[in-house]
Amino acid sequence: MSDLPEHVRRNRILWDARACDYAGPGEAAWERPHPTWGIWDVPQSELALLPDDLAGKDAIELGCGTAYVSAWMARRGARVVGIDNSEAQLATARRMQHRHGLDFALLHGNAEEVPLPDASFDFAISEYGACLWADPRRWVPEAARLLRPGGRLVFLVNSFLMALCMPDEDGVAATDRLRRPAFGLHRLEFPGDFGLEFHPSHGDWIRLLREAHFEIEDLIEVWPSAHASTRYPFVTLDWARQWPAEEVWKVRKKTS
Ligand SMILES: C[S@@+](CC[C@H](N)C(=O)[O-])C[C@H]1O[C@@H](n2cnc3c(N)ncnc32)[C@H](O)[C@@H]1O
Repeated sequence: MSDLPEHVRRNRILWDARACDYAGPGEAAWERPHPTWGIWDVPQSELALLPDDLAGKDAIELGCGTAYVSAWMARRGARVVGIDNSEAQLATARRMQHRHGLDFALLHGNAEEVPLPDASFDFAISEYGACLWADPRRWVPEAARLLRPGGRLVFLVNSFLMALCMPDEDGVAATDRLRRPAFGLHRLEFPGDFGLEFHPSHGDWIRLLREAHFEIEDLIEVWPSAHASTRYPFVTLDWARQWPAEEVWKVRKKTS
């Protein structure tokens, strides 16, 4: 543990403590026959985070938590690896594997340094996992290393605007006020025991992804339906119907 970067060490403590709150929602997501995404449960038919052709492909989930996304990929015929920094989150994932009779590899580790060979995967995904909690200067090049040429990386995170508007106080929803400067944000630490998040600006994401030899295929600003709901207190539906609270990046590793 002492050899981990500070943010990884602190986020491990946070997620080991938080895992009990994510077990129930994780179990419900494992039951879901059709994937839904993000805090508003937007259907796969709208956002298409998972490609249609996963059968027989090698896929990795970076920061898999309770590993329901990994389960959805395994059910679609992919050979799946999930990696997560929290042993407690993985304990739920293992329990769910047993309950659902699904077997895929689960690794306890840091998605910035995955102990697997170069070019092992066709597809990599992260939903509020490494893409939020790991340093993008480290996990993005690592994802590129793990992918084969032409392989895809998809991730879903809070929008940059959301990161600017989220209040410091826990349990309080964003308003139409900017709470912090955009320039120099990158790493965000809320007061209290909330761990460390990373929120690059759009320009920073584009530069990081291009430096890691990714082509950007899409950036989707998630617009929840008028009837959507969320268990997360930091944003209201009214807010998220006016401004993007979440965004999906879809990128592909260059072939040459
Ligand atoms: C909000 S959960 C997202 C996972 C999944 N979608 C879920 O809700 O269970 C965030 C996960 O990212 C993991 N995580 C944070 N930093 C990580 C890192 N550097 N490497 C791998 N996993 C990490 C945490 O341990 C946690 O399980």
